[in-house]
Amino acid sequence: MKKRKIWIDCDPGIDDAFAISLAAACQDQLEILGISTVAGNQSIERVTENARKLTAFLGIPQVPVAQGSACPLVREMISAAHVHGSTGLGDCSLPETEKKVVSENGILYLAKALLSLPEGEQATLVPIGPLTNIALLFRTFPEVREKIEGICLMGGAAVGGNVTATGEFNIWEDPEAAQVVFSSGIPLVMCGLDVTGRCGLNREHAKQLLESKSPVQKALGEMVSFYLKSPAYQNKSQAAIHDAVTITYLLHPEWFEGRAIHVEVDCSEGKNRGMTVCDFRTSAEGDYPVTVLLDVEAERVQEFWMEKLTGTRW
Ligand code: BDR
Ligand code: CA
Repeated sequence: MKKRKIWIDCDPGIDDAFAISLAAACQDQLEILGISTVAGNQSIERVTENARKLTAFLGIPQVPVAQGSACPLVREMISAAHVHGSTGLGDCSLPETEKKVVSENGILYLAKALLSLPEGEQATLVPIGPLTNIALLFRTFPEVREKIEGICLMGGAAVGGNVTATGEFNIWEDPEAAQVVFSSGIPLVMCGLDVTGRCGLNREHAKQLLESKSPVQKALGEMVSFYLKSPAYQNKSQAAIHDAVTITYLLHPEWFEGRAIHVEVDCSEGKNRGMTVCDFRTSAEGDYPVTVLLDVEAERVQEFWMEKLTGTRW
């Protein structure tokens, strides 16, 4: 079977770490070309350090890690340290490694990686942080478009938000960048809070991971436990693992329902800044390049995650 080539753009981040782990566990179907980092959950230095260590820890040291944007396009960066802890990975400390971050800038490195794909081959972009790098990539290297099969991102929501009433973190952090990406015309799947908020792991899963002899499973268990103890999840039965939904969708789109909808990002300075405005009217203008996921078989996703994370030799 031909593997789908993916590039992960991320800000690890607990759920980013799960997304990377899931991709690493599914290398029979996915080829991870590389990882670029973007400031979001934590500073660019911190998330890059986490990505660097994670690749070695997960047994994928050959996957290049390149450092991208240090702040959003227009506004100053506001981290989500209150959700992911001061390290970005909760209380978890990953082992040191000799693995190095590539010396080139992440956006340039990503452009070169795409442009050097053999004739007729394409990659899928999987952005799971603010869209700063991807917007800069499209603006600086428009020629990469033909090497991109599609974008499957975590961000936004058809209804509601998690930072403000209508703003989801990744989009709210850099709405101008998100608007560039959403209006790019490249086929885009939006894994927003409508589905990611329903896909999570609970205290039983955390316990099972923590009790494992595998250092990777233990670390993942520590990260879920950190989430579950945070004020956002203390009174909830499970913690959402938003970013891992992107990888899951690529492998099992049949577990999801979506609709092609025209989406605009609110870039105003008003209270809806960062909202993904989904136009459900059939008469809406535009050519609907965005597939907004609206429903998911969440239990199957949860089972799949545990099967992959506990069934991998690491
Ligand atoms: C998104 O925000 C970040 O905190 C997570 O890593 C995820 O990408 C969820 O809103
Ligand atoms: Ca993220």
